[in-house]
Amino acid sequence: MSRFTTPTLTLNDGKTMPQLGFGTWQIEESAASGVVAMALDAGYELIDTARIYDNEAGVGQGLQGRENFFLTTKVWNDDQGYREAREAFQRALERLERESIDLVLIHWPCPGMEKAVDTWKALIDLRELGKVASIGVSNFRQQDLERIITETGVKPVLNQIELHPGFQQRELRELHDSQGIVTQSWSPLGQGQALAEGPIAQIAEELGQSPAAVVLAWHLHHGLAPIPKASSRGHIEANFTALQLKLSEEQVAAIDALDSPDGRLGSDPATLC
Ligand SMILES: NC(=O)c1ccc[n+]([C@@H]2O[C@H](COP(=O)([O-])OP(=O)(O)OC[C@H]3O[C@@H](n4cnc5c(N)ncnc54)[C@H](OP(=O)(O)O)[C@@H]3O)[C@@H](O)[C@H]2O)c1
Repeated sequence: MSRFTTPTLTLNDGKTMPQLGFGTWQIEESAASGVVAMALDAGYELIDTARIYDNEAGVGQGLQGRENFFLTTKVWNDDQGYREAREAFQRALERLERESIDLVLIHWPCPGMEKAVDTWKALIDLRELGKVASIGVSNFRQQDLERIITETGVKPVLNQIELHPGFQQRELRELHDSQGIVTQSWSPLGQGQALAEGPIAQIAEELGQSPAAVVLAWHLHHGLAPIPKASSRGHIEANFTALQLKLSEEQVAAIDALDSPDGRLGSDPATLC
């Protein structure tokens, strides 16, 4: 049994989603079942995977016999296009051993491929068919969001973007807020690197908490939806304690001040594909 209740966010389609989730990138297929089971036991209610993580079958096994979880997967770049995305999603359901899931995202906008609108139309139809409850995007820039919304009239429920203390994406967050789109933070711990930052270590010391929990509490304070990845039971449980951690305005401001325009760790959506 978990000690804390995960707060939920209401999506623009009326559904709800746990604010704190668990990421599974770089968790091997063979380990995924056990790690996902450990995360659920620790209290996480949202699991994030993707075709490109090559672990959907393991994630699905870890979810067998469980209830009350929210499952997200993503359509990979070479599966973009209307027919391709529909077929790829069906294969993902088979790997996950589920008839439907909670959320599917377009993984990257791939502006060079010009297929995002057709892919988005496929997701809209999958939702109509009841194969997925909610639909969203990942790594979309302002122009990518505007394009799919203008062409279809359907807003994504969320945009999952790189976001951590060293790269805070304030402009995009403001756009999301004005459009009723949830901001979900990937690499919320800065892939472990942000934890070494001076002010974060200092706040952790003041509070007697782990630096990772401090960073996750900062995301939650700002209404963001972080999906930290961890492999060990110690990290998994330590990160979940962020839910009971409240930062002072001064502590939040100290972490806000770590933002850097050069802080991106992952690919740039403008040029990836
Ligand atoms: N949509 C996208 O394009 C995209 C891109 C990247 C990631 N994501 C999603 O976002 C999730 C999270 O991002 P991420 O995996 O890149 O990075 P992250 O969650 O920011 O950081 C994970 C790293 O932090 C370490 N860590 C976790 N908890 C810790 C703790 N309490 N103390 C010290 N170190 C700790 C982990 O080590 P251990 O593993 O040893 O615990 C791992 O090395 C991914 O798993 C994936 O689901 C999405």
